[in-house]
Amino acid sequence: MQYSTELETTIKDMVQKGRGILAADESSPTIAKRFKAINVEPTEENRCAWRNLLVTTDGLGDYISGIILFEETLGQKSGDGNTIPRVAWTRNIVPGIKVDKGKIPLALSPGDLITQGLDGLAERLRSYKQQGARFAKWREVYAIDKHVPSQHGIRANAEMLARYAAVCQEEGLVPIVEPEVLMDGGHDIDRHTEVTEAVQHAVFHALCRHHVVLELMILKPNMVLPGKGCRHAEPGEVATATLKVLRRTVPAAVPSINFLSGGQEPEEATANLNAINQQGLDAPWRLSISYGRALQQTALQEWMGKPEMVSAAQKALFKRARLNHLAMLGEYQITLENE
Ligand code: 13P
Repeated sequence: MQYSTELETTIKDMVQKGRGILAADESSPTIAKRFKAINVEPTEENRCAWRNLLVTTDGLGDYISGIILFEETLGQKSGDGNTIPRVAWTRNIVPGIKVDKGKIPLALSPGDLITQGLDGLAERLRSYKQQGARFAKWREVYAIDKHVPSQHGIRANAEMLARYAAVCQEEGLVPIVEPEVLMDGGHDIDRHTEVTEAVQHAVFHALCRHHVVLELMILKPNMVLPGKGCRHAEPGEVATATLKVLRRTVPAAVPSINFLSGGQEPEEATANLNAINQQGLDAPWRLSISYGRALQQTALQEWMGKPEMVSAAQKALFKRARLNHLAMLGEYQITLENE
C-alpha cells in the first residue's frame, strides 16, 4: 500500500493511552439544532467561533489526540490567522474529517437506512488531505424495530463502510469506521446486543473482503445499552454486554475502539466508559472515546454564544475531557463531577 508509513504515523499519533477523539463534525443542520437549544443563530461565523473555542482550549491535547471536523471547518480560520486544522495540530491534536453525506432510506427495504457519499470520494479525500486532514470518518446508522435492521440492510451498510475504508487507506487517510446501532426505541439490552453483534460481524467480514488493513483503522461503535424507552442499565451491565459483543466480533488487530456517546448524558457516558475499561483490562484494543455530545454539551450550555463566556465553556470542555481520560484508565469516580 502506497501510504502505509503515513497511516502508521497517524495511528501512532491518535491511539495513545488516556487520550481520545473529539467529534466536532456536526453537519450544518445538526449544529443548527444544538445552537437552537441555546438561542444562538446558526451562522457560519457562529459555527466558526464555536469550533475555534473547542480547538483553542488550553491543555485539551493532553487528553484529546484527534478532532473530527466538518468540511466547512477545514478552511475556517482561527483568531491567529491559521486554519482550524493547523491550530489543532500545533496543539498536538490530529485533524480529521467526516466524509459521508448523511443517511437516506434504503430503497425497497422499509425501515433500513443507508449512507451516501461514495461517488467521487477519492478526489474529495485528496483535497481534504491538502487542507490538513489525516483521518476520515463515515457513519452508518441502524434503527431498531421488530423486523429492522434486516439482514439485507446489515449487509448493504457493511459494504458501504468497507468500500469507504478501502478508499481512505488507498489515499493515505486513516478510516474511522462507525456503525451506529441507535439507542432510540423501547428495545431491551438483549435486543441491542443481538443487533450490534450481527452488525459488527457483517462489518468485519466486509472489511476483510475489501482488503482493509485492520491495524490501520479505528472502530467507532455504539455501546450496548437498553433503548431510551426501556429501563436504565448500570455501568457494570453496559460494560459486560458491550465487551461480550466486541470480543466476539472485533479482531485483535484493530488498535483502538473509540465509542460514540449516542445521546447518553455526559456523566453516564463517562461512567460507562470507566466500567468498560475496568472490565476490559485484558482487552486487545484501546477502549477510548470519540464523543460528540457527551464532550460538548456542558460547554455549549456555558457558552450560549457569548464571547465573555468562552473561558467558562473551555473549562467545561476541559473538565469532561479530563474525566473521560480518567475513565480510559478505569479511575473515574462520580464524586469527581463535583470538583
Ligand atoms: P455523539 O457522541 O454525540 O453520538 O456523536 C458522535 C458522532 O460522531 C456521531 O457520528
